[in-house]
Amino acid sequence: MPPNQDPILEPLQLKSITFRNRIMSTSHTCGLEQEGGMPAEVYQRHHIEKVKGGIGLTMFGGSAYVTEDSTWTAGQLDMSHDRIIPYLESFSSRVHAEGAAIMIQLTHLGRRGEPLSMNWLPTEAPSVVRETRHRSFPKEMDRHDIDRIVTAFGHSASRAKQGVLDGLETMVGGHI
Ligand SMILES: Cc1cc2nc3c(=O)[nH]c(=O)nc-3n(C[C@H](O)[C@H](O)[C@H](O)COP(=O)(O)O)c2cc1C
Repeated sequence: MPPNQDPILEPLQLKSITFRNRIMSTSHTCGLEQEGGMPAEVYQRHHIEKVKGGIGLTMFGGSAYVTEDSTWTAGQLDMSHDRIIPYLESFSSRVHAEGAAIMIQLTHLGRRGEPLSMNWLPTEAPSVVRETRHRSFPKEMDRHDIDRIVTAFGHSASRAKQGVLDGLETMVGGHI
């Protein structure tokens, strides 16, 4: 098969988005966040260099947190506050200028989150099952906790839209 007929290099239409090919960089915590969990210059260039290499979609923000009680203490983006929106705007416009699409992964870490950091007391999870990473027990979520986190996902998704991202994925089924 001639190289230019390889299906992986063909455009892909998903509703209103046309990806220039089917090659993507999947969500990963790259540890390059700056200014308190923001995707500033170094973070953006990590992705833009891959986009310049020709990929059709870059996904960033592996485990970007929707609330402050969902951190590892470092390495994640903070999608819990509007101050990230200008960073998203500049990031998306630079990726779009190179002809690629850009999406983010939003997460609440549940029991896996850091239990001794930020400004929250216990970790929270659907049930009181001990976390293997740090060996503490989460609080079982009540109705208020569930509503708070669901609402936070919605607010973070709205920020992604305001930042002109092409989409997002949620990681909610467990974090390894
Ligand atoms: C350092 C590192 C951090 C990662 N962080 C995440 C993450 O936050 N969320 C996620 O869904 N996958 C994460 N991944 C998984 C990657 O997205 C990818 O699925 C995995 O590395 C396999 O692809 P590869 O063989 O091209 O590396 C991470 C991978 C690496 C190496």
